[in-house]
Amino acid sequence: MSEAELPQNAKSSGAKPSDTLSMPAVPRHVAIIMDGNGRWAAARGLPRAEGHRRGVEALRRTIRAAGEMGVKVITVFSFSSENWSRPAAEVGELMGLLRRFIRNDLAELHKSGVRVRIIGERAGLEADIGRLLIEAEELTKDNTGLTLVVAFNYGARQEIARAARQAAEAVAQGRLKPEDITVEILGGFLDTADLPDPDLIIRTSGEQRLSNFLLWQSAYSELVFVPTNWPDFDRAALESAIREYQQRERRFGGLTAKTGS
Ligand code: IPE
Ligand code: IPE
Ligand code: MG
Repeated sequence: MSEAELPQNAKSSGAKPSDTLSMPAVPRHVAIIMDGNGRWAAARGLPRAEGHRRGVEALRRTIRAAGEMGVKVITVFSFSSENWSRPAAEVGELMGLLRRFIRNDLAELHKSGVRVRIIGERAGLEADIGRLLIEAEELTKDNTGLTLVVAFNYGARQEIARAARQAAEAVAQGRLKPEDITVEILGGFLDTADLPDPDLIIRTSGEQRLSNFLLWQSAYSELVFVPTNWPDFDRAALESAIREYQQRERRFGGLTAKTGS
């Protein structure tokens, strides 16, 4: 094809100085719906609990890889408000894994400068779990490396309802006027008040839904669904999801160089 036949925007050859400015950026905040532990186990004739245990190993790999890749915040969905409806033995197993994860990994995370944050409902959790969550946040609160947000006993609708309740209480006490309730004010009552919205949300296992995860914060997140079951997720899978993210054009309702001309 001669240059004359090329589409207008493909004619210039060589990098323009401005190309460096549009280099694909690593997402600042990656959120992950770690799904498919049960199916991973079933495919191998193993108990579901084994899938959850291997899922913790995938979590360790992914936290390390994300930090090394320059991601600033990683949020992982570890137990949903709706997961209480699973058989008691499985719920017990998942609670045990959280306990073990904090007991075994907290010191190492702290040493690598990770700041741990927990989002979700604390009320109603077993007392020792509540204490472990506080310990993890307290120990690491001044760290300046990767922020690891664990969504535990988390449901986005419940989070929004809690925020609305707090706003209503502030109005009832005369600290807030109804007309002053804006997106920013209500967002400030969410568990994620001090965190940026996720740029990229990855869900493993092939399911294509949010399952009550970060419904408010995901308004403009890019969604990437991967067929891999969570226990098989690794650095290469994270890199591949990030490459897909980098090919997306984020518009936030406006126009970009491409759509505006
Ligand atoms: C994700 O794996 C872990 C949690 C939801 C706690 P699942 O346990 O949902 O695995 P599948 O979806 O049944 O394969
Ligand atoms: C979402 O996965 C919750 C977590 C990954 C912790 P589920 O497996 O609970 O979601 P559904 O039931 O398939 O929508
Ligand atoms: Mg699932």
